[in-house]
Amino acid sequence: SNLPDLVVVGAGLFGLTVAQQAAENGHTVEIIDVRSHIGGNAYSYFDKETGAEIHQYGAHLFHTSNKRVWDYVNRFTEFTDYQHRVYATHEGEVYPMPINLGTINQFFHAHYTPAEAKALIEQQAGELAGTDPTNLNDKGIQLIGRPLYEAFIKNYTGKQWQTDPAELPADIIKRLPVRFNYDNHYFKDTWEGLPKDGYTAWMERMIADPKIHVTLSTDFFDESQPLNKKALVGRVPVVYTGPVDKYFDYKLGDLKWRTVDFKERRYDEDDHFGCPVMNFVDADVPYTRAIEFKNFNPERRERQNPDKTVVWEEYSRSAGRDDEPYYPINTADDKQLYQQYKALAAKEPQVVFGGRLGTYAYYDMHQVINSALNAYDKQVGPLLVK
Ligand code: FAD
Ligand code: NA
Repeated sequence: SNLPDLVVVGAGLFGLTVAQQAAENGHTVEIIDVRSHIGGNAYSYFDKETGAEIHQYGAHLFHTSNKRVWDYVNRFTEFTDYQHRVYATHEGEVYPMPINLGTINQFFHAHYTPAEAKALIEQQAGELAGTDPTNLNDKGIQLIGRPLYEAFIKNYTGKQWQTDPAELPADIIKRLPVRFNYDNHYFKDTWEGLPKDGYTAWMERMIADPKIHVTLSTDFFDESQPLNKKALVGRVPVVYTGPVDKYFDYKLGDLKWRTVDFKERRYDEDDHFGCPVMNFVDADVPYTRAIEFKNFNPERRERQNPDKTVVWEEYSRSAGRDDEPYYPINTADDKQLYQQYKALAAKEPQVVFGGRLGTYAYYDMHQVINSALNAYDKQVGPLLVK
């Protein structure tokens, strides 16, 4: 027959990693994706007017402490020395994030030492000491005290969930880290950076092997094309990275997700914010944050247009079936429903479910690559032994 050794549904980082591993071990692979490009949500393109690399599905920063993942990704791309830092606009002032001694001293117009700031926050958090908060509002106050919580967390979180934090469950926030020094370098991982030639160039190199063939703009559930579920499942090993509920035609119900809408703005200036990510933490600004893509790649300044910049504002809301699913909502009901789908998935012949949609989980890129390398070793590879 002319079937490949493996069919991968979804050209995101999970699918690309599995495909690369299969090809390296001598197998032929057919990847299909319903989108018109590879890369899944990590896809990016270069904007002609500004020269900015636009991350089409939201800002993507690569960071990991996993040596196997770092060595693996470095086979396909070099990384810049970008270090992530975020700022926040609150009542007409710009503060460093995450909350650190600089944020605290600016907010209280003070010059506290680390020990003094720590004592102050403990005292303010004491307002609800000994209580067991049931909503996010009380939890936030208990973690960092009312003043900082109400300024920097309350409205931002409310906008993310489109819900008053007093109505949100307390367990959305496990901890609110406060740094009692001036370090505002966002990530604490061993390695960090952005792919030197962009995300898409990195991911194209992962599938440069001639044993890998990619078919785009093709839906696995469309029976009018040959690479569909009905034609393939049971006849060839399949790695499926689309939504698990959709695979089963939503027969047990829909898993809930949040999505983000992006609104693009262009300015006739070189640099609008002076940083790549500006959070807007007040209720009167409807978006949560704005991304100025040029500023992720200062090393490309010579190739960027000094007279123009492009900014994407992010508006968060709950997703319907036709929206891009971004963040699993993960209520107790969702978790229970996913377990039921997982049990069905386990019975599918020669189908491995993976990635964030296939396992209803939020994964960063390094986590999804790690999970794909492990899935290849333990589940996919053994199916491919000839
Ligand atoms: P995806 O990238 O979603 O790929 C799944 C693919 O399957 C898609 O291309 C989809 O079109 C395809 N597909 C679905 N259904 C079908 C079908 N029926 N037929 C054919 N194809 C189908 N990670 C970080 O490390 N750092 C960050 O800063 C970061 N920021 C993020 C910001 C946002 C807004 C989001 C949403 C994610 C972010 N991530 C970040 C996470 C990162 O995007 C994921 O880890 C990664 O993209 C997951 O890869 P995946 O292959 O599991 O899923
Ligand atoms: Na190829």
